[in-house]
Amino acid sequence: MSQCSIHGALGTVKKRADRGPVAPMHPRRDVGGPNPCGRPYYGFPDPWHRSMRPTQVRARSGVPADRIAAVFESASRRYVETHPRSQQLIGPRGIAGFYDGVPMHWMRDWSMPFPFVVDSAHGATLRDVDGHEYADFCLGDTGGMFGHSPAPVAEAVARQSGKGLTYMLPTEEALAVGRLLAERFGLPHWQIATTATDANRFALRVARAVTGRPKILVFNGCYHGTVDETFVRLVGGRVVQRPGLLGQASDLTQWARVVEFNDVDGLRAELAHGDVACVIAEPVMTNSCMVLPAPGFHDALRTLTRETGALLLIDETHTISTGPGGYTRARGLEPDLFVLGKPIAGGVPASAWGFTEDVRRRLDGVRAATPSGHTGMGTTLSANALALAAMRATLEHVMTPAAYGAMERLASVLELNLEQAIEEYGVPWHVVRLGARVELVCGRGPLRNGTEAEAAHAPALERALHLSLLNEGCLIAPFHNMMLVCPATTEDQVGRLCDAFERALANLTTG
Ligand SMILES: Cc1ncc(COP(=O)(O)O)c(C=O)c1O
Repeated sequence: MSQCSIHGALGTVKKRADRGPVAPMHPRRDVGGPNPCGRPYYGFPDPWHRSMRPTQVRARSGVPADRIAAVFESASRRYVETHPRSQQLIGPRGIAGFYDGVPMHWMRDWSMPFPFVVDSAHGATLRDVDGHEYADFCLGDTGGMFGHSPAPVAEAVARQSGKGLTYMLPTEEALAVGRLLAERFGLPHWQIATTATDANRFALRVARAVTGRPKILVFNGCYHGTVDETFVRLVGGRVVQRPGLLGQASDLTQWARVVEFNDVDGLRAELAHGDVACVIAEPVMTNSCMVLPAPGFHDALRTLTRETGALLLIDETHTISTGPGGYTRARGLEPDLFVLGKPIAGGVPASAWGFTEDVRRRLDGVRAATPSGHTGMGTTLSANALALAAMRATLEHVMTPAAYGAMERLASVLELNLEQAIEEYGVPWHVVRLGARVELVCGRGPLRNGTEAEAAHAPALERALHLSLLNEGCLIAPFHNMMLVCPATTEDQVGRLCDAFERALANLTTG
């Protein structure tokens, strides 16, 4: 039973006066240590702890390096002991038949020594084949933002699956979806794709086509899916390709301009070249820890793009956590192009991209002047009947103001409790929340841009923290410290996470 005070008055936080003083932090030793499973750890591209001396690790995160290593090692051992069935099923070399032993290679990028095998998930609860039940705050990192298999979506999927899944022709569901998207997001013209990556790719193609310009401007540290033009970074003021990319056909830096988020002067200077077709932006950077826009930044972004003839694409794939119309509707943004993916069909792969009447008019003109042929947009399964049925159910019955109200309420309780634990244990960390999305950053804040966000990442520490929480039945997103609250999340589950977080903090800071 959780001890978190959310069981009392809503929005209150835990009372901590009854706890003793925080013990002094431990002196140093090195981070790392043997993997109990004898496999290398994956993911967490990690300049952070390898390039730092332990004293720096502690100065940056407030946690002694030797505690990070010790906590991770003991959490790894506990994980291995308590997941024998998953370990047996996955096998010593991973699942047979799959490259890298998993259906998608990033499934090895979690903090666990090996991934657990999922048995089922419903609402905000996930079960593994070892019989553990997790309060799921990862929620398929946003694909399940409205819970696993919400009833209206499950019913729509069942209904549609009795009638065929894909025909390359519209269904009656499509009539409703077009109207629902236009009403909700305020843009008149829409297309359906399968992933947010696809939607961004197609929208950027339209931007290039209608402006006749070659370049895309991105914010340093962004992520918009596996979209080539966005795989660039600023390093020492120079645009470079993101490390780790494989098989690029061309030098991506020639198609991109990169500016730090919140840097209005930098934005003005880069747009002044007159070769930018489109600025693509998350309205809040959620993939770089979480970076909020400075006051006036979005106004400046819109004014400068208009003045220089560049289009503005707002990617709401994550920031749809803000409310039913996303950050765009909540803050009155005026994008030319708009992208939404992941949870839009309740977990069925689907995305939507919309645009203004002005873009429609220009696109018509370009198409009329172009020889007929493949536009380079759309895939065979784009806008399939199953996706449209699930999207309609999600828009009509799942992404409701009431659902958002419940999510926001519990997310704010989670935020307050995390903040209070951070304060009590005296670590230089902070918490940022965007509606239902809560991000813990193991560094000082607020962060102003992608460079600061990258420096704030603490992969070794985050790994130890994630695994500690997991061992206590709480799953958070693997690549940073993201916790998402869905309509089915209960107060008990939030309480469980708050308590597990506090125990992990105690363990990390006091041993
Ligand atoms: C803001 C944003 N846009 C687009 C995407 C791509 O989504 P998908 O991987 O579903 O194509 C992501 C994925 O994390 C994202 O965070």
